[in-house]
Formats: sequence, C-alpha cells, structure tokens
Amino acid sequence: KNDIPSTIVVFGASGDLAKKKTFPALFHLFGQNLLPKRTRIIGYARTEMSEEEFRKRVTSKFAPEADKGLVKKFLDLCEYVSGKYDVDADFQNLRKEIDRLEKDAGIDTDAERIHVYYMALPPSVFVSVATQIKKNVYDESCINRLVIEKPFGHDLESSRELSKDIGALFDEVEVFRIDHYLGKEMVKNILSLRFANVFYEAVWNRHFISNIQITFKEPFGTEGRGGYFDEFGIIRDVMQNHLLQVLSIVAMNQPKSLDPEDIRDCKTEVLRNIKSIKLEDTLLGQYVASADGSKPGYLDDETVPKGSTTPTFAQCVLEVNNDRWHGVPWVIKAGKALNEARMLIRIQFKDMPNSLFPNLARNELVIQVSPKESVYIKTIVKEPGLSTNLAMSELDLTYKTRYHDIKIPDAYATLILDVLNGDYSNFVRSDELDEAWRIFTPLLHQIENDHVKPKPYEYGSRGPEGMYEFVEERTGYKRTGL
Ligand code: BG6
Repeated sequence: KNDIPSTIVVFGASGDLAKKKTFPALFHLFGQNLLPKRTRIIGYARTEMSEEEFRKRVTSKFAPEADKGLVKKFLDLCEYVSGKYDVDADFQNLRKEIDRLEKDAGIDTDAERIHVYYMALPPSVFVSVATQIKKNVYDESCINRLVIEKPFGHDLESSRELSKDIGALFDEVEVFRIDHYLGKEMVKNILSLRFANVFYEAVWNRHFISNIQITFKEPFGTEGRGGYFDEFGIIRDVMQNHLLQVLSIVAMNQPKSLDPEDIRDCKTEVLRNIKSIKLEDTLLGQYVASADGSKPGYLDDETVPKGSTTPTFAQCVLEVNNDRWHGVPWVIKAGKALNEARMLIRIQFKDMPNSLFPNLARNELVIQVSPKESVYIKTIVKEPGLSTNLAMSELDLTYKTRYHDIKIPDAYATLILDVLNGDYSNFVRSDELDEAWRIFTPLLHQIENDHVKPKPYEYGSRGPEGMYEFVEERTGYKRTGL
C-alpha cells in the first residue's frame, strides 16, 4: 500500500456516477484501510449544496449495513466545493481549498504528494475542466493524475481530437482512462488463468480453438437514459470499449513482463490485427415492447427521439489476423432488454481428431464475468456407475462456492486503488483507444448514413430472430444454449 499523501478531487460530485460508483468505491477502500494515510477528498460540482446535503448525497448508495462510525470518519475526509466548469476564479478557489486542506493535515508541500483529478463528468465539459485544472489547479511539485471516463469521443476523428486536446495539457502518463470492465475480478483474472497455467496456454490458439464468443446481456432497457443512449447506441456504449477490451486480453500474446506498458503493448497489438468490421458481419437489433405489453419498447421511451434507428443490440463477427488466431471467428454480442443479466466469454474447442468416442459435444471453457463469477470447463466423462455411456459434465470453479469468505470488490474500488498506486495496466492507452475506434468507425458511419434499420426483438427475449443462424453461418457451429 502506498502512503503518499493524496488529495482526490471528484469533479461532477453531484452526479450519478459519483454517487453510485466513485464515492462508494472510495468508502470501500477507506474501510479496508487502503487509502493512503493522509487522503483528502474534495467533491466539486456546479450545484450549490450545503456540506450536509453533499454528505447525504454521496453516502446515499452506501450499503445500508455500512458502519455508521466508519461512514462518519470517511466523511471527515470529504469536503464539497461548488463552482462552474469554466470559470478561472472557481478553480483558483479550488486550488486554495486543496492547499488549505493539505496544510491542515500537516502535509509538507516539499514532500511527495499525489493529486488525483477524477472527472465523473459529461464529455461536453472534459476539455474545459482539464484546461482549468492545468491552468489554475495543477501543482508541478505533485504527482498529478487525471482520471477520465468514457465516452472518449464518438468516432475515430472526435476521439483523436479529444486525445489531442487532453494531450496538450497532460502527459500520457498522467492520464488514466477508465474502462470499468478492466477492474472486474474475472477480467483481471484472465491474465493469471492464461499465463500461470500450462494447460490453458498450450491450447490457446487456432489449432485447438474453433471460435470465441464474448457476450454481454442486460435485462433492462434504457429506462429514462434514452437521451444519452440514443446518441451512442449499443456499439459505442459497450462494444467498442468493454467487449473489445476483454477480447484483447483473451487474444493477446504473452507480454514480456507484467509491466503495464508491456501488457498494453500486447493488447494494442491484438487490436491492430483486427480489420474494421463490415456491415455484412453485423446483426443489429432494437427492442420492441414485450409480448404481454408489460415492458415498453425502445421507441416508447419518451427520452428517445421518435423513429430512432439506434441499435440496442448488436452481434459482430471478426477475426484477429495473426499466427495465433488466423481463421478463428470471434463473435461479440451485446444487447439491452434481453432475457437475463450475463457477461461471459465462451471459448469453444475443436472436436477431437480420430476420437475413440462419438463426438458428444465439444469442450468449452467459459469465463463468467457476471453475475456469478465463475470459470468452468465443459468436460466429457464416462457416465458414473455401470454405464459405459458418455456424459457432459463440468469442471466448475464458482467463486461463491470456492471463495465464500471473500467479498469481491466493485470494479471502481480496484481501479481507484490502481490510480493511487500508479498502476496503468488496467487503463486504456491512447493508441489502444485509437485502434478500438478504427475497428468500429466505418461501420458506425455506415449505419448512421444509410439509416440501417435494426431488426426488432421483444423486450425480455434472447435477441432478434436469425441471430443463431448468423453465428452458425460464420462459425460453422450450432447454437450453444445462449
Ligand atoms: C456502462 C454502460 O459502461 O456499462 C451501461 O454505459 C451498462 O449502458 C454498463 O449498463 C454495464 O456495466 P456493469 O458493470 O453493470 O456490467
């Protein structure tokens, strides 16, 4: 644990992200004694609020069973400053507050200090706030870290523009781009699974793997978030970032070391080997009301513009063109308002050559990211007992059963700890981001320019008709139950 005195400024402190994720994560770290000893937290936002209101707001999503005494101690570290996002005097005031808090905490300004600027903000104010920080708050004598959340632009060009603007203010080593999927337990686990176990890495290639499916399913629709969602759509919302990040870790070659730059080099290399996705390799969907009419369709959401053709479901097939993966189809699928909440990585192996036994089914390795973290391998065994038949079974590592004493932390807690420790491994580098946009931008532009109509699917269903055939045609494998 690092004990360098740290000041964390959360911009957008009155917003949803801060309330739901940032502050609960900071509290979790505090409770685990993982924040550096002299940490100060400042919430900054436009809303005028009393300290009391601020405290109420930031603790509103804490677990109800949270220890009251601990919450109070945590709140003693927090303070609220209100100000505009583009006014010099407000940011100068913020700087004064930081200086005052550090002085009160007896922090020597000559000693090493960390300043974290966490932007829990809408993208429209990213650059203005970053500019203000650099101009009026930035302290050269500190280690400065700027944390930003997606969306990082909406296509390759706008993302490059944003990177250029931020890059003119902060060095790349000062920028931490959050993709919260990289903080999830099972996503972080992929590296260990793959490179610490001899038997995974030995078969992790086109000779043994027939196809890989990365699936993200949510059982709810836009529910009032339609304004934001409609501007982005499912591809920008989760595919270009979360799913592609997961894919790059599943596909990467072994890095030279665990150094963050080595890891990010290998992930970026994967993305470089993926061609831009074509419309003919994409199936788009948009949800309509559920069969019984109890759940509304996407277009029934009042925050969604009339007649919108924004996809809420997408399934794409792509290939990683390198020695390891040549010829192996990767299917990435994401959808809202489906039948269940589930995120998983399904690795399907090839059939046994010259098998003694009839091929019952193929082996599969499934890494379930959520809701129940688990790793299982579909394995064929002899049916137990006197029978000589074969049966499909599972080698099952369900975390809840195996590690029942351990509470898996929220992704944000892990990531904020990484920021404090200066560990970049689980943050997106600018060249990586650029490649991710390159893969999707032509497709996104084509969908939008040609007003490609998504296929309807019912709220609560598995997705649009034809999605299994779509995969079968491109992978040669039949539906697996998902
Ligand atoms: C966010 C998307 O990045 O990820 C949301 O904007 C989505 O639309 C969310 O619901 C999913 O995250 P999680 O951690 O709930 O799987």
